Amino acid sequence: MAVIPVALAGRAYEVVIEEGLLARLAEAAAPFQKGYGAGRPVPFVADTNTHRLFASGIDAHLAAHGLAAEWFVVAPGEDAKSWAVLEQLCDWLLALGVTRKDHVFALGGGVVGDLVGFACSVVKRGCGFVQLPTTLLAQVDSSVGGKTAINTRAGKNLIGAFHQPSLVLIDPLVLATLPDREMRAGFAEVLKYGLLGDAAFFAWLEANGNKVLAREPAALEHAIATSIAMKARIVAADERETEDLRALLNLGHTFGHALEAETGFSDRLLHGEAVALGMVLAAKYSARRGEISAADAARAEGAIGAAGLPASLPSLALTCDGAALVDHMRHDKKAEGRTLPFLLLRQLGEAYVARDVDLADIAAFLDGELAG
Ligand code: GLY
Repeated sequence: MAVIPVALAGRAYEVVIEEGLLARLAEAAAPFQKGYGAGRPVPFVADTNTHRLFASGIDAHLAAHGLAAEWFVVAPGEDAKSWAVLEQLCDWLLALGVTRKDHVFALGGGVVGDLVGFACSVVKRGCGFVQLPTTLLAQVDSSVGGKTAINTRAGKNLIGAFHQPSLVLIDPLVLATLPDREMRAGFAEVLKYGLLGDAAFFAWLEANGNKVLAREPAALEHAIATSIAMKARIVAADERETEDLRALLNLGHTFGHALEAETGFSDRLLHGEAVALGMVLAAKYSARRGEISAADAARAEGAIGAAGLPASLPSLALTCDGAALVDHMRHDKKAEGRTLPFLLLRQLGEAYVARDVDLADIAAFLDGELAG
């Protein structure tokens, strides 16, 4: 078991990591279920997958504690992060009579967590919520730190709020049913923590990544706890990403976003897969600038490839050129000039924000990578 505090003044909370937490929810989240019972159900939001897998167990468990769950179920996928679903969810919470003191339970991956967190930031000008992340990606990244958002026609995550959860309960057992591809995509974000801030953790992942992917309990808990501990430190120091510190968590994301955009934000390339390849590109570009050695860039590429994640641009069989990928980056960041902030590596285990990157050079670099 690991308990990791997120030390935000006035909004401090804990991330608890332990096998079987979901089966002990009434005890594990007891302070956040006060006020429910006696005809007031506990509001849960899930997608159809997490509802199918876990709702009946939670219903039975809560019933044994004199509580009842009421479920709001969304379709799986990014479409749930919409104005329409947000409106339905807010109406449902208001109809349930949720108050500012109440907590809503988000059972799912990043989509459910982002949607519920944003709804809870506006319902009654802000009520509480508890994150119950069910994907590795949500467990090590999106459930912690309070970034909440929906998508609009203008782009992903452009409407949202910083709204911290009151508790995050991570039960590694829920990953037993996670498809291997999604497990690998979440593992990309675990590798990210090693690459951006902890060389020893990166080396541990090189040696033990296969155990994490195989869901071996001790390795999995160590990987999740180490990742969350770093994220908690960063969020506590730079909650709103104003200090060039929280931005480090975006390692691989600028290149990755361009790849997601080029592949239509589709199943062709999952977010974690795009981040994985984005990190390879960030490492190789850092080597091109002479900041890390070619051998270190090859280590990053090797760890990502060994995890079964995409590690080279030709593997995506894109038909565009480097300039088209740079255009996606420009559009994402609303950039007009010749440069954008890029997350690069000073060494394995030390990322930094580079502000002197020439986009024409990035396009030339990507042309070389696309050619293989
Ligand atoms: N996923 C990046 C962050 O939470 O800042």
